[in-house]
Amino acid sequence: MKSSLLAFLAVGVAHSAGRLLYATRHGLVPDTVTSNVIPMRKHIVPSSQHRSSVVKPVYRRTADVNHPANLTNVHDVYYIVDIIVGNQTLAVSVDTGSSDTWFVSDYFECIRFWWQGPEYKPNCGLADGFTGNLSGGVLDNPPFVRSYMDTTFVSGYYGFEDVTVGSITAKNQRVGVVNYTFWAGDGLTSGLLGLGYPFMTSLDGAEQNQAPYDPVFTTMWKNKLIDPLFSIALSRESGDQGEPDGEVRTPEGSYLALGGLPPVEVDEESWARTKIHGVDAIPEWMFEQSDLGLYIIKPDSWVYGRETEDVTPAEADQGAVTTHGLTTNTTQFPVLIDVGATLSLLPKGLVQKLYAAFDPPAKYLSTNGLFFALCNATIPKFGVNIGENTFYFAPEDLLRQTARDPSGEYCRIGVTDVNGGPYVLGVSFLSSVVAVFDIENTEMRFASRTKY
Ligand SMILES: *[C@@H]1O[C@H](CO)[C@@H](O)[C@H](O)[C@H]1NC(C)=O
Ligand SMILES: *[C@@H]1O[C@H](CO)[C@@H](O)[C@H](O)[C@H]1NC(C)=O
Ligand SMILES: *[C@@H]1O[C@H](CO)[C@@H](O)[C@H](O)[C@H]1NC(C)=O
Ligand SMILES: *[C@@H]1O[C@H](CO)[C@@H](O)[C@H](O)[C@H]1NC(C)=O
Ligand SMILES: *[C@@H]1O[C@H](CO)[C@@H](O)[C@H](O)[C@H]1NC(C)=O
Ligand SMILES: *[C@@H]1O[C@H](CO)[C@@H](O)[C@H](O)[C@H]1NC(C)=O
Repeated sequence: MKSSLLAFLAVGVAHSAGRLLYATRHGLVPDTVTSNVIPMRKHIVPSSQHRSSVVKPVYRRTADVNHPANLTNVHDVYYIVDIIVGNQTLAVSVDTGSSDTWFVSDYFECIRFWWQGPEYKPNCGLADGFTGNLSGGVLDNPPFVRSYMDTTFVSGYYGFEDVTVGSITAKNQRVGVVNYTFWAGDGLTSGLLGLGYPFMTSLDGAEQNQAPYDPVFTTMWKNKLIDPLFSIALSRESGDQGEPDGEVRTPEGSYLALGGLPPVEVDEESWARTKIHGVDAIPEWMFEQSDLGLYIIKPDSWVYGRETEDVTPAEADQGAVTTHGLTTNTTQFPVLIDVGATLSLLPKGLVQKLYAAFDPPAKYLSTNGLFFALCNATIPKFGVNIGENTFYFAPEDLLRQTARDPSGEYCRIGVTDVNGGPYVLGVSFLSSVVAVFDIENTEMRFASRTKY
């Protein structure tokens, strides 16, 4: 009895009255709402400003690990927080697909990749940067160089400064100061707040093997300022959902919560947990080491379809099963939980079924390089099974009324098919859940948001 109880405590898995419990230094505890809550502002970039996939492919900010891929511009939603660097307030976008916190300096060079005429002035879409010197000094070596999967890059130098997020300060934090970049920002932010693991900070320069350092969030929990977890609630509502000091909170706000839960309502019965996997879980990255790098999970299965629909005999032959008219695909694959990605990117064989389930079916618009459906199409159900629960994408995230083709008749689907990993659950998924990133227990927990 005793030993099985210990084993039970060691894995930190427990379920009590609809709430999940997890192991901490203080024993088994449920998640609770924290006062360290930072409202995030949602910024939707108007479609007239989307860059065409022909000119410049942009889809996400996940750190470029090993290889380039064909990418399409789908990045049109940013979640922004104000951070205080020294005594300067900078707006940055929140990213769980990378680990550095960086911002431009007041002087920086924005470059272009190809000749666009003598009058063309490149615009990296970056807001005012940091002025003056960092109080902790700068590193002569290594330089700060980071490439992202969308072909953008930033470069400059590392330095040390106090970084405050909400009411928590990472003292003498290592940050990247950027003075040379090819970037496609939203015009309102000066950089990124990267919330990934330290390992990702080592993928620097040509050899991609710098010594890692502790990013902002890691410094905060190692200094015992917060418990080693953070959580995120993204809302579809746009604009400033509260004062920067967090005093005004609304149920439909977007929040980054350090050390606990954000103040939004969830369905308590829906809490589910799943393990965070090491970087070797993504075969395309070709890592031999199993270090934790980003928030990689392996969902149990996926469900899709119209509720009256049945599987075809061919699908049944391939092992598909039908529940209440929905088809469950039990093929498992790793996905990144990425707040910095607007869309979700999933395997073609799965997403094609989702496209076909729209009525009329979604179609590829070559002018946009992505799948669209008529804005008034009937939207199917699409969900991911994690732990004991199915998390359905909201209809408004599956067919995005804010992202239309030039005719205005077609709306962009919130899930994009890709031919290989890394697969991603982005904003189109995260808008329906609260996501808990638990570093101490190396697991993610999710609960469904109640309607907001
Ligand atoms: C990228 O697109 C080009 C042209 O369409 C194609 O030849 C190439 O195979 C694609 N590369 C990948 C990695 O998909
Ligand atoms: C901000 O810090 C710099 C350098 O430490 C100092 O020179 C400046 O006076 C400070 N500004 C304010 C508004 O406190
Ligand atoms: C910043 O540091 C440089 C080099 O050490 C120095 O020349 C300059 O005066 C400093 N600027 C401020 C505003 O302190
Ligand atoms: C950026 O900063 C580094 C380190 O101080 C310096 O060597 C480099 O010349 C700067 N680049 C630009 C474009 O200012
Ligand atoms: C299930 O999804 C995988 C992709 O994850 C796909 O290759 C496969 O064809 C799908 N199976 C069925 C029966 O649709
Ligand atoms: C849906 O929209 C299309 C194009 O805007 C229009 O032609 C069609 O009549 C609409 N269908 C319904 C059922 O409203």
